[in-house]
Amino acid sequence: MKIAIINGPNLNLLGKRETDIYGNMPFEAYLQIIREKFLDIDFHYFQSNIEGELINEIQRLGFEFDGIVLNPAGYTHTSVAIGDAIAAIKAPVVEVHISNVHAREEFRKLSHVSGKSAGSIFGLGLKGYELAVEYLLSLK
Ligand code: DQA
Repeated sequence: MKIAIINGPNLNLLGKRETDIYGNMPFEAYLQIIREKFLDIDFHYFQSNIEGELINEIQRLGFEFDGIVLNPAGYTHTSVAIGDAIAAIKAPVVEVHISNVHAREEFRKLSHVSGKSAGSIFGLGLKGYELAVEYLLSLK
């Protein structure tokens, strides 16, 4: 089974960035934990700060992978184009946010991604990625 994890802008700074909100762990360290937990899954990880690169990757993997775990970060709230890319592909997408976007600023309550995704997880920290993988695994 092939699952992609795609992270949007500024998530390359996890562990350094607003640690009171996003925690102290760099994503690469967490990815290692996920890889060890789901040994049978072939993971592909991609992060970009650039909207078009995220869309290219969603399109490229979306007809080949069994599922995508996507944290579009700030683009969640602005990008109609990422929402359209999710609607265009075959692979189910689970939207993940580390923080509880509904308990923060008003603008974070809007997601262009939720309505196109199989489901959304927010506010459960990095654990949300694991839960998303478990859901995708359950579809097989
Ligand atoms: C985030 C929430 C977004 O509102 C924010 O712009 C991010 C991270 C999260 O994982 O909690 O960069 O997607």
